[in-house]
Amino acid sequence: MIRSVIRGSGSALPRRVVSNAELAAQVDTSDEWIVERTGISQRYIAGDGETTSSLATEAARRALESAGVDAASIDLIVLATATPDQTFPSTATQVQHALGCKGGAAFDVAAVCSGFLYSLAVADSMLRTGMAKRALVIGAETFSRILDWEDRTTCVLFGDGAGAFVLEAQEVAEDGPGVLVTRLHADGAHNELLYVDGGPSTTQTVGKLRMKGREVFRHAVVKLAEVLQEVMEEAGIEPAEIDWVVPHQANARILDATAKKLGLPMEKIVKTVDRHANTSAASVPLAFDLAARDGRIKQGDLVMLEAMGGGFTWGASLVRI
Ligand code: UT7
Repeated sequence: MIRSVIRGSGSALPRRVVSNAELAAQVDTSDEWIVERTGISQRYIAGDGETTSSLATEAARRALESAGVDAASIDLIVLATATPDQTFPSTATQVQHALGCKGGAAFDVAAVCSGFLYSLAVADSMLRTGMAKRALVIGAETFSRILDWEDRTTCVLFGDGAGAFVLEAQEVAEDGPGVLVTRLHADGAHNELLYVDGGPSTTQTVGKLRMKGREVFRHAVVKLAEVLQEVMEEAGIEPAEIDWVVPHQANARILDATAKKLGLPMEKIVKTVDRHANTSAASVPLAFDLAARDGRIKQGDLVMLEAMGGGFTWGASLVRI
């Protein structure tokens, strides 16, 4: 059978690290509150010259390197972002140009924090149906540029970064590697709980992120448990068979709650929210890349990727490495 196999991964972070203490000097917050409520200790914030496309390009280069393939062999780029360099053209086309790959398809996907899961599903479908052979799937964000830095309820939660996979169509055996099952969902009724208060067609401004955190938290725990169950049922596996869960990194308490619901030990959950904060569409591939590079995620492992975010949108994907 043809499956989409992860050939390599890469990630990139801005140069500047911002600690909780640094934020506490700007808004009415404290290191203690942020760590206790979110598990975040620091985040990376893009500086001059660092953009969503520059971080995405760096992450993509590292993914190509780890896969050992040339940029010229890429015939599809799907890039998840809610913070594109420009309203159009897509950030994916800018990355395509920067990498020097020509001719294939390149486009952005907008599903905010679930964007990487959505992009992976789109690329997987295109690879399995023969529309492309080798894809770059990228999650890249500069959320620092849409934060209201006077709003302590949101500005302490997010950071910037990018992560990428090289995904390739391969003929594999039933028990071989590849994306096994993906499920995606959306419910547009909850726009007012997590949104940006601007846009080209409404205010002609970029706008700032607004979130009712407590309500989002409540929905996230329920919806993630549901979609994880759905994927496991479809794949016919028990939670104990999962080697690693790579979740969207919004809040350490959501990761704890998800682990508890699955009956999995926290050691099986890849956690980077302490270092990266919430990097939206970048968080899953960033966390995956760290765990792959430090040797935790290995060939043959069964890995569950999951995310939930604005829209609401949510999804999960089970992958054999
Ligand atoms: O990536 C997309 C998905 N996003 C998420 O999953 C985010 C989900 N939500 C969360 O992670 C949490 O709800 C938050 C971290 C955003 C907030 O934690 P919480 O435990 O739900 O706190 P809360 O919103 O209920 O606020 C508790 C108190 C409030 O004060 P009062 O009303 O109790 O006096 C807030 O004003 O904490 C206050 N507060 C802060 N205090 C110090 C809110 N933000 C801060 C802050 N520093 N930065």
